[in-house]
Amino acid sequence: IEEDSIALKGYIKSFPDFPLPGILFRDIFSVFQNTDGLKLLNNILKKYCNEVAGKVDCVAMLEARGFLLGTLMALYLNVPCVPVRKKGKLPGKVAQLEYSLEYAKDVLEVQLGVLKEGTRVLIIDDLLATGGTLQAAVQLMKKTGAEVVQAVVIMELCDLEGRKKLDIPVKSFIQY
Ligand code: PRP
Ligand code: MG
Repeated sequence: IEEDSIALKGYIKSFPDFPLPGILFRDIFSVFQNTDGLKLLNNILKKYCNEVAGKVDCVAMLEARGFLLGTLMALYLNVPCVPVRKKGKLPGKVAQLEYSLEYAKDVLEVQLGVLKEGTRVLIIDDLLATGGTLQAAVQLMKKTGAEVVQAVVIMELCDLEGRKKLDIPVKSFIQY
């Protein structure tokens, strides 16, 4: 996994001043634009899933980039996956969590059904920055009764210390 992760880093393009001045945007989609990069990413996820197989009952994938990763992981883990989305996108009964962003409030939702009391959940997203998104997702999972046993991100922006906000194990493959 380490070797593939070093190679994968070479496929990630960085965009200065996007989406705002002063932000250096790390674009996971640049990996998908190259078949070799995508194969590396797939191998990493496959190997990682082998390590945690049997310890996870469900994959929760965070909108929007987490969807691309979570589906693969669910296949390799042989468990269901559920999307976590912004308010009003998912039909049927949902659990909701309101959380604060820097200047506004937002709401995350997940459909009820697969997630039950004691369900062991792995949360997947592309990037850990301030940790606000993952923290909200962990709280949302708790509302369904499920237990988050692991969070996984492809990239971690270490300076922002997002992992300090989280009381669960966090795995990242690439660090900046
Ligand atoms: C980005 C990224 C993570 C989140 C990380 O998502 O994909 O989900 O920010 O930031 P944080 O650790 O500071 O919360 P974004 O909000 O841009 O939405 P998107 O994935 O739906 O495009
Ligand atoms: Mg996101």
